[in-house]
Amino acid sequence: MARTPLIAGNWKLNLDHLEATHTVQKLAWLLRDAKHDFNEVEVAVLPSFTSLRSVQTLVDADKLDIKYGAQDISANVSGAFTGEVAGSQLAKLGCDYVAVGHSERREHHRESNELLAAKVGAAFDNGIVPILCVGEGLDVRKEGKQVEFTLAQIDGALEGLDAERAKQIVIAYEPVWAIGTGEVATPEDAQEVCGAIRGRLTELYSAELADGVRVLYGGSVKSSNIASIMDKPDVDGALVGGASLDPDEFAKIARFRAHQVGL
Ligand code: 13P
Repeated sequence: MARTPLIAGNWKLNLDHLEATHTVQKLAWLLRDAKHDFNEVEVAVLPSFTSLRSVQTLVDADKLDIKYGAQDISANVSGAFTGEVAGSQLAKLGCDYVAVGHSERREHHRESNELLAAKVGAAFDNGIVPILCVGEGLDVRKEGKQVEFTLAQIDGALEGLDAERAKQIVIAYEPVWAIGTGEVATPEDAQEVCGAIRGRLTELYSAELADGVRVLYGGSVKSSNIASIMDKPDVDGALVGGASLDPDEFAKIARFRAHQVGL
């Protein structure tokens, strides 16, 4: 099955709503021909909650071919949960995606696999596609246990998820040691774990379902390394941090097919 590549920019705690608007506008302008030339790549940005309304207004008004979503979602529906943002609120803002279980949230907010399974459910309850983030730290990598560690995260976060939902999920393999460090995993490292994730989806669901799920790589992705990573059969896109804040660089990443054919 042909999987549409997804290039998603995780802006993390950067850009106010004015900067976000400017960045999306520039990105859309830079990609204006890409739809025609390389139309089978989906591009998305994940701004801060405070920018979502502005991004929605811009994307809707100008009918931009850019998807957007949030960086987190509450596992709760409503009520006394100060500071949390519910899936229904994100859905009202037209969010297509939401990142769930980014390593920075697992680390700084102690998010457990049980909580993440609830967040995945909350996203689907509201028609939002979760981008479930998994990946090992340096100590696990040094022990050579990256596959079993990452698959245990998959098992935990997909607990109880039915096939109807699972077939829509996006999974991002982001080795923690490669995030924001400039140390990019080799294409072979990315393929090893992304391939193992697809294998686990086959075991949990079916080969047909696993074949349709997009598995992204994240960690120090740049325009100079995206093409070789995207050459790998089980890598279907990228979750880009730092480089997604620069529209020129992010647009080059989104146009990775141009690099692949040497344009
Ligand atoms: P960098 O691209 O800055 O390494 O961040 C990756 C990431 O965490 C995306 O979610």
